[in-house]
Amino acid sequence: MVDPLSAHASLSRGEETSYRRATAADASALAAFAAQTFSATFAHLYPPQDLAAYLAKSYGEAIQRQEIEDSGIATWLALRGSDLIGYAQAGPVDMKVEHGQRDRELYRLYVAAHAKGAGVAQTLMQNVLGWARAGGADALWLSVWENNARAQAFYRRYGFKHVDEHKFMVGNTADRDFIWRLGLVSDL
Ligand SMILES: CC(C)(COP(=O)(O)OP(=O)(O)OC[C@H]1O[C@@H](n2cnc3c(N)ncnc32)[C@H](O)[C@@H]1OP(=O)(O)O)[C@@H](O)C(=O)NCCC(=O)NCCS
Repeated sequence: MVDPLSAHASLSRGEETSYRRATAADASALAAFAAQTFSATFAHLYPPQDLAAYLAKSYGEAIQRQEIEDSGIATWLALRGSDLIGYAQAGPVDMKVEHGQRDRELYRLYVAAHAKGAGVAQTLMQNVLGWARAGGADALWLSVWENNARAQAFYRRYGFKHVDEHKFMVGNTADRDFIWRLGLVSDL
């Protein structure tokens, strides 16, 4: 288990970070946190109307509740007390790639600004990897914006490899995203 305070954390000491799967009761808090962290990371890239269209399509309590209640999708939360400081969400591969039947895709991985570099994302990722392996996935897939250097450095640490690229639409703005794959089955 990663100690979230062992790194250069700016999280205050004294309170433990806890991790658990989301339940429908988390839908409202998750919707707000997800929209806030997406905006904090990417809002500067888009015209306001494109950002608003994307947020409306992707976030909101009802959408988050539907995703949490979907048995094929898994959502993990990182919390400090009752405050959300990170989340990850994964499910069936939803990109146009040739993939194994039981492969999984990491849809989202976000931590609050003050939780970056503190091991929180790492623990969330370990949960995702354990879940994908337990489900018999041969690979975990993800899509990452071409200029998201921090996320790319994070994913590279796990051994994700560049496979392809595709357009990721935010409103009417087309981003160029990289499609990366991590093999989960040892070749030995
Ligand atoms: C992506 C994210 C989950 C990673 O979590 P994190 O706690 O920041 O990750 P870490 O600090 O453990 O690792 C980040 C890596 O990027 C490096 N890094 C930090 N700032 C960087 C920058 N500006 N450019 C390039 N690399 C950078 C770090 O040195 C580290 O690499 P290293 O382990 O090789 O030294 C987190 O940064 C985040 O929530 N970002 C905003 C949302 C996002 O982009 N999500 C991914 C969408 S695909």
